[in-house]
Amino acid sequence: MSIAIAASGFDARDWADWLPRLRAALPHESIWPLADCPNLAEVDIALAANPAPGSLAALPKLGFIQSLWAGVDRLLADTSVPAHIPLARMVDPAMNIAMAETALWAVLSLQRDFFSYAAQQRQALWLPHPQRRADAFTVTVLGLGQMGAQVAQRLQANGYRVQAWRRAPSAAAVPEGVQLGTGSAALPTLLARTDVLINLLPLTPDTRGVLCAPLFNAMPQGAALVNLARGAHLVEADLLAALAGGHLRHAVLDVFAHEPLPPDHPFWAHPQVTVLPHVAAQTDPATAVQVVADNVTAWRACRVPAHLVDRSRGY
Ligand code: NAP
Ligand code: GLV
Repeated sequence: MSIAIAASGFDARDWADWLPRLRAALPHESIWPLADCPNLAEVDIALAANPAPGSLAALPKLGFIQSLWAGVDRLLADTSVPAHIPLARMVDPAMNIAMAETALWAVLSLQRDFFSYAAQQRQALWLPHPQRRADAFTVTVLGLGQMGAQVAQRLQANGYRVQAWRRAPSAAAVPEGVQLGTGSAALPTLLARTDVLINLLPLTPDTRGVLCAPLFNAMPQGAALVNLARGAHLVEADLLAALAGGHLRHAVLDVFAHEPLPPDHPFWAHPQVTVLPHVAAQTDPATAVQVVADNVTAWRACRVPAHLVDRSRGY
């Protein structure tokens, strides 16, 4: 039995970061990049880093998939992956912290107008704006899962008023001081008092296109959007219209329907859009390899791996 790493977009540095660490953490396993695997018929575990659709179809004995990404929407959409094969998400506290850092940077920049000052510098424009207090600034986090909970907690600790939204009531703890809403009925009230909306939902049939004109219109004039989850959550034309009409004042976008974002895309040069190249929270092999090793060990020992995806929910 052996393990194959199926990755799209891994360069030589990525392979050098992952392979020696994985082989050291799982010394009794035979671990190969999928393309170099000496015997595909022996592979029973795949480590999937956003592989191209169809990549795993070459593995007839596949029994367990460990994603190296937190989001598994692309794997779930791959019809060549049999639905009975258990699929575990990457859940690494170090990644949640990275996401909280990105969210804090975006919210601070919006609260204190630092994106505007950066644009003004390019025009040699000396123009102070009124200074807003964090405790009078409301941030709403869509999704209170691994990433959303860490983001909400960090923003609350930095003095913001924080609201969060999740699908259903749950036993999972809500960070202290964070106001929670659940289900679609709760959303309009949360949106009506939002200065910055941060999207950290998984991409599912229910959430695709959720960032659209009716949602933007439910927020106060001058609110801002931060999308750190998936590009397909956003209806791009609706965002461009909301920015042009002055209803939204700025958007910070880390994820896009088409990645890399095409060079001629209007977001690149838009004065009210800040573009990041899908880096809000990257998987760090220094910590993530142990997550992989624990789950591979669990599966080999016939124990249930951690953070299995519930295919009926889509996340
Ligand atoms: P997660 O742990 O699965 O959490 C998902 C949260 O969304 C849960 O709170 C869930 O509600 C809520 N939710 C799901 N469907 C919903 C619906 N229809 N209505 C309301 N709430 C809903 O996910 P995660 O690991 O935090 O990841 C969040 C997002 O970040 C994903 O899209 C992932 O792909 C993305 N991501 C991006 C980057 C990046 O670098 N940009 C890095 C990592 C992850 P319940 O609590 O009720 O289940
Ligand atoms: C990155 O977007 C991830 O899902 O890990």
